[in-house]
Amino acid sequence: MCGIIGYAGETSAVPILLDGLEALEYRGYDSAGVAVVSPDGKLQFSKSKGRLKVLREHLANQEPLVGNIGIGHTRWATHGEPNDVNSHPHIGNKNKIAVVHNGIIENYMEIRAYLEKKGVEFVSETDTEVIAQLIEYYYFKDYDLLGSVYKTLHRLRGAYAIGVLCADYPGRMIAARKDAPLLIGYGDKCNFIASDVTALLKHTRTVSYMNDDEVAVITPYKITFFDGDRGVIEKEKTEVEWDVSSAEKGGYAHFMLKEIMEQPEAVRKTISPRIKDNRIFFEELAGKEELLKGINKIYMIACGSAYHVGMVGKYIIEKLARIPVEAALASEFRYASPLVDEHTLIIVISQSGETLDSMAALREAKRLGARVLSIVNVIGSSIARESDEVIYTMAGPEIAVATTKAYNTQLIILTMFGYYLADLIGAVSKEEYDEFLSELGKLPEQMQKLLDSADVCQQAASKYFNRNSVFFIGRNLDYALCLEGSLKLKEISYIHSESYAAGELKHGTISLIEPGTLVVAMTTYAPLLEKTVSNIVEVQSRGAEVISVVSESDKDKMNTSYENTFVVPDSHPFLKPNLSVIPLQLFAYYVALNRGCDIDKPRNLAKSVTVE
Ligand code: F6R
Repeated sequence: MCGIIGYAGETSAVPILLDGLEALEYRGYDSAGVAVVSPDGKLQFSKSKGRLKVLREHLANQEPLVGNIGIGHTRWATHGEPNDVNSHPHIGNKNKIAVVHNGIIENYMEIRAYLEKKGVEFVSETDTEVIAQLIEYYYFKDYDLLGSVYKTLHRLRGAYAIGVLCADYPGRMIAARKDAPLLIGYGDKCNFIASDVTALLKHTRTVSYMNDDEVAVITPYKITFFDGDRGVIEKEKTEVEWDVSSAEKGGYAHFMLKEIMEQPEAVRKTISPRIKDNRIFFEELAGKEELLKGINKIYMIACGSAYHVGMVGKYIIEKLARIPVEAALASEFRYASPLVDEHTLIIVISQSGETLDSMAALREAKRLGARVLSIVNVIGSSIARESDEVIYTMAGPEIAVATTKAYNTQLIILTMFGYYLADLIGAVSKEEYDEFLSELGKLPEQMQKLLDSADVCQQAASKYFNRNSVFFIGRNLDYALCLEGSLKLKEISYIHSESYAAGELKHGTISLIEPGTLVVAMTTYAPLLEKTVSNIVEVQSRGAEVISVVSESDKDKMNTSYENTFVVPDSHPFLKPNLSVIPLQLFAYYVALNRGCDIDKPRNLAKSVTVE
């Protein structure tokens, strides 16, 4: 949420900052801005409401911003509406200090009141402006820039990743973080800061991840890291495996479509390192077998789509391992006095690894004595670093705000983990285990087959894109899929949509069904197929039009027309979710396309939600 980029080098900063912001725009797109310091110590900036292209136009129509050092920001508004003034960078009254910030400063009102009494005039409604004004206030006392940053940080309560420029230091930038992601990139005669590695891939893949309370001073040739007490520290360098092309559209109209199409490969990459000698093997869990055998309860903690993955995982792991599993929304878990002890396994699921609600729940679970295993896509992210164990999904960078390929790789990790755990505690027979493995090997190909028949979803989307309300119904695993199908549709197409356990509809919600209502019925979970078919008939007799998602071998049991039936290949019941989510993603995508929506950047949303 909010993107930060900073550059210190030997060439003009602005084009590099804009390029970085382009890659970061998915983190927030209410407004954007850049600031640079010229070699003769002049702080210049430009910022504007709207997408990055508006900032580009502004820059093209003003005096060029001169300087080889600069910071840039894309905003997802929290404090203060999206407008030019509230955009970052924020500048001190005396035009000495510029700051970009990601996070929320909780005590900003108090600091603002303090500074106003000292005569500082605020121009924006943001929490961030207090950082710029406070650093500048301290700076004018003793001209110790690093000291002013430290003094300021010590007064802040909340979360921050910041980049700081000072007009008196044309070759230096300062970065700091607490509870918001920030990394440093090492280039050739240049160095970077960024909130997200995708912003740096064109320039470098060598990075260091900053930890909470750390501060860095960055010049084109040197980076010095400090701990919270201003002591110099050494930081490890990491090589990022993602390449530039993985974060580009590669000929697709949208990142979302590209990422939907990448699912077979992402799932293949996620599965293959975890199969050894025809067994599921998690290198990440080697040596932890006894701990895992002692578990008597599992919590899946996550937000949004990742929570929906947890719902699927609950059904599968409870059935396989006979251990109680609860799927919890991270934002609720933390404040719900959860029953957690050292025999509880907490599984935190997160694509970005930076979601603040999930992070806060993780910390609460650890405080209560639980062990935390996280399933994360972004290597080195905060959740990964704070977990006891991490299993990485191999989805590659996910840029579209609506998750697709990360969701699918999270699903497969959880299902494989379910078998791994069940095998460890002797809860699964050899026949069942082997049957699963043989079906698992076929999954990527089956996913590809489904993607090759995307036109069925496309045609259904052109028929139904102008509906006002859509219901998703299903039972058991299919219900968990409904949650995801409904979220996908509403977040990118803005059509109101509900997901319901099919058996629950008659307890109230069926009164909303009227002639023309669209109902998407999930019927891939074979043991409950007939019951869901009865629910389909119930809504049809009240005038609903129904699209069904059904397995190949059951397609003749459906009472929906050919063009309203999305058929998924026959597979193991626990692998069906990986398949049946695909038509739901495609349907949502094509509905949004027909409605002319901004698919990769839906209104009010942002990728990586780093506020509570
Ligand atoms: C929906 C979506 C969100 C995320 C949620 C958690 O398409 O992408 O619901 O799943 O914000 O994000 P992560 O997985 O990064 O923790």
